[in-house]
Amino acid sequence: MRTTRLSDGLISPAIGLGCAELRTDDLTGDRQAHAVVSRALDLGVTMLDTADVYGPELGRNEELVGRVIAHRRDDVVLTTKFGLRFRPDGSLWLDSTADWARQACRESLRRLGVDHIDLYYLHRRNPAVPIEETVSAMADLVRRGDVRHIGLSEVSSETLRAAHTVHPVAAVQIEYSLFTRFAEQELLATCRELGVGIVAYRPLGRGILTGALTAASDLRAADGRRQSPRFQESNLDRNLALAAHVRAVARKIPCTPAQLALAWLLARGSDVVPLAGMTRLEHVEENSKAADLTIPAELLAELDHLADGVAGDRYTPEQMALLDS
Ligand SMILES: NC(=O)c1ccc[n+]([C@@H]2O[C@H](COP(=O)([O-])OP(=O)(O)OC[C@H]3O[C@@H](n4cnc5c(N)ncnc54)[C@H](OP(=O)(O)O)[C@@H]3O)[C@@H](O)[C@H]2O)c1
Repeated sequence: MRTTRLSDGLISPAIGLGCAELRTDDLTGDRQAHAVVSRALDLGVTMLDTADVYGPELGRNEELVGRVIAHRRDDVVLTTKFGLRFRPDGSLWLDSTADWARQACRESLRRLGVDHIDLYYLHRRNPAVPIEETVSAMADLVRRGDVRHIGLSEVSSETLRAAHTVHPVAAVQIEYSLFTRFAEQELLATCRELGVGIVAYRPLGRGILTGALTAASDLRAADGRRQSPRFQESNLDRNLALAAHVRAVARKIPCTPAQLALAWLLARGSDVVPLAGMTRLEHVEENSKAADLTIPAELLAELDHLADGVAGDRYTPEQMALLDS
C-alpha cells in the first residue's frame, strides 16, 4: 500500500485500521482479531488504532491489540489514546492532567506489551486543564522514549495552536467523512498551516456509507449506534436515503460504496489518512483497494453537498459535551 507522510518523521499507510470494535470477549474473538489484523498487515494497512477506554472494560482492547501484534511489532504504526476515564457507574469523565498522562502511558505500554507507542493521542481534552500542561507531559514521554510522536483528538484550532507551541503535534484525529465535514470549517486549514497530519476517524459513517445498513432493524439491540441521533427513527431514514446516493455514484465508477467513501477522503488531501473500522476479513480486502482508486472530478462533485442533508448529531448530548469547542 502507498504511504502518507503525516508530519516530519511520521509515515502512515494511506489507510489505517480502527481496532475499537474488535471483539475481546472470547477465544473466537481473539482468533478473528488475529486473522483481521494479520491480513491488514499483509496488505500494508499497518496503522492500528486503539485507546485505553476501548473494549468492554478499561484496557481490554489494548490487551487484545498487544496479543495480536506480539510477533509483528516492527510492522505496525501503533497508536493509542488517553484522557477519557470511567467512573464506577460507567460514565466517562475527562482527565488530561500531567499525572494521568504519565500513568496512563505506563499502563498502555504494559497492556500493549511494547516498549514504545508510535503515536500517542490525547483522546479528549478537559478544558479545566491547560493544554500546555498536558502537552508538556506528553513531550516528556517522547524524551523518555516511551512515545515517538504525539497527537490530539477532537480538538479546536485554538487548542491545536497552543499545544503545538509546546511540542510539535504530529497528527490530529477527527471525525471526518462524506457525512461529517465540520473540520473543513477551520481545523484542517490550521493543521496544514502547522504541518500536522489528519487522521479521519469514522470514515464510513459507522457503516452507513457502505450500504450495509438498510433499516433500523439491521442493528442488533446491543449495537452502540442505536444511541447515536443519526441512527434513530426519521434521522436514520433520511441518512439512508443519502447513503443510497453514495451507492449510485459508486456504481458509475465502478467501485463499492465503502471504497468510494475512503477514496473521497484520500482525495481531500495528501495529508489525510482514513481510519476504517473493520472486523471482517472481506472488508479489509475490499477497503485496502481504495488506496489506488481515483474518482473523476465530476463524480466527486456529485457528492459535494451530501453532508448538508445529514440528519442528527454524530454523538449523544452527553458525548457532545465532552468535545473541545
Ligand atoms: N478519536 C475518537 O474519538 C474516535 C471515536 C470513534 C472512533 N475512533 C476510531 O475510528 C475507528 C473507526 O470508527 P468506526 O468503526 O466507529 O466507524 P467506521 O470506520 O466509519 O465504520 C465501521 C463500520 O463499517 C463497516 N464496514 C467497514 N468496511 C466495510 C465494507 N467494505 N462493507 C460494509 N461494511 C463495512 C464495519 O463493519 P465490520 O466491523 O463488520 O467490518 C463497521 O460496522 C475506530 O475503530 C477507532 O479506532 C476514534
